[in-house]
Amino acid sequence: MRVGVLTGGGDCPGLNAVIRGVVRKGVQEYGYDFVGFRDGWRGPLENDTVRLDIPAVRGILPRGGTVLGSSRTNPLKQEDGIRRIKDNLAKNEIDALVAIGGEDTLGVAARLSDEYGVPCVGVPKTIDNDLSATDYTFGFDTAVGIATEAIDRLHTTAESHMRVLVCEVMGRHAGWIALHSGLAGGANVILIPEQRFDLDQVCAWITSRFRASYAPIVVVAEGAMPKDGQMVLKDETRDSFGHVRLSGVGEWLAKEIERRTGKEARTTVLGHIQRGGTPSAFDRWLATRFGLHAIDAVRDGDFGKMVALRGTDVVRVPIAEATAKLKTVDPKLYEEAGVFFG
Ligand code: F6P
Repeated sequence: MRVGVLTGGGDCPGLNAVIRGVVRKGVQEYGYDFVGFRDGWRGPLENDTVRLDIPAVRGILPRGGTVLGSSRTNPLKQEDGIRRIKDNLAKNEIDALVAIGGEDTLGVAARLSDEYGVPCVGVPKTIDNDLSATDYTFGFDTAVGIATEAIDRLHTTAESHMRVLVCEVMGRHAGWIALHSGLAGGANVILIPEQRFDLDQVCAWITSRFRASYAPIVVVAEGAMPKDGQMVLKDETRDSFGHVRLSGVGEWLAKEIERRTGKEARTTVLGHIQRGGTPSAFDRWLATRFGLHAIDAVRDGDFGKMVALRGTDVVRVPIAEATAKLKTVDPKLYEEAGVFFG
C-alpha cells in the first residue's frame, strides 16, 4: 500500500505531529510506503512530491508549521483539476490519500472521495476550532495559550498606565479563541463574531471598570462587528480567495473607546503569532492520536471519513458532514462569560 499525505490551508501547530503519527504507524505496523505532496492540493495537482519515510519524520513532533508546506490551492476551481490530480496519484501509484486541513482542504477531500472515487481520509486542523463533528481541533489549545499569555502581560501595562488595552485575536467566523483566552486571561469584555456588539454597552462596561479603579482589557475576535449603524465597514476587503477580511476591528475599537469614554486606549493585534511555533502538549497528543487513527482508517478502507475527537475517543465521521457547517460559539457559553464583563 502506498499512501499520499498533504497539509492544506493555514499552518497550525501540530501538523507535523500528525504526519509523524501517520508515517510511524503506517511503516512500523502496516509496512506501508508514503509519498508527501507539497503545499496542500498544489502537490498532487503539479506532481510536486517529497520523500516521506521514518528518517523524514524524525524530530518533527515539537516543530510548528508543516514539513510538507501548505497552500490554499483549490483544485476544484482549476480547469482540469480533478483529472490532473487523478493522473498524478496514478503516476505515483498512490492507493490512498491522507488530507490534513481545515474546512476548504477537507471540503475538496470530501468531494474527491464521494464524487470522483479518490480514496481520501481527512484529518481536521484549525486553530479556530470551528470545524463541526470534532470537540477540538489541534492548534486551538496552543493559540489559546499564546493569547492568554499575551492578555496576562497586557493586564500589567493596562494597570500601570490606567489605559484600556484591546487585544485582537484570530477568528473570522467563530469566537472560540476570544472566548477561551478571554476567560482564561480575565478579560473585562470579550467580543465574538457570532454576536454583534453594542458599542455603547462596551463603553459602559469600560467606564464602570475604571470606577472600580481597574484598567480594562478587551479581547476582540478579528471577525467581531458592532451592531448596524455603529461601524462603517470601510476596512472590508476580500483576499484573492474571496475570503472577507475585516482588518482593523481592534484599532477601530480603541479609537472609538477613546472618543466615547475619554480614556486612553491601545491595541495589540496578535495575528500569526497565534499560529506559529511549537504546539502545546495537548495539541501534540491530539494531533498524534489523529495521525494514528487516520492510518487505521486507511487500513480499513474507510474512505470519505475524517477522524474526530468525541470526549476522549477518536471516532470517524463522514468528511462531508464535518465540513457542511461551521461550529460557532454557543450563545449560552457566551452568556456565561458575560458575568465578568464590566
Ligand atoms: O483559519 C485560520 C486562520 O488563522 C484564521 O483565524 C485567520 O483569519 C486566517 O487563518 C488567516 O489566514 P492567512 O494566514 O491566510 O491570512
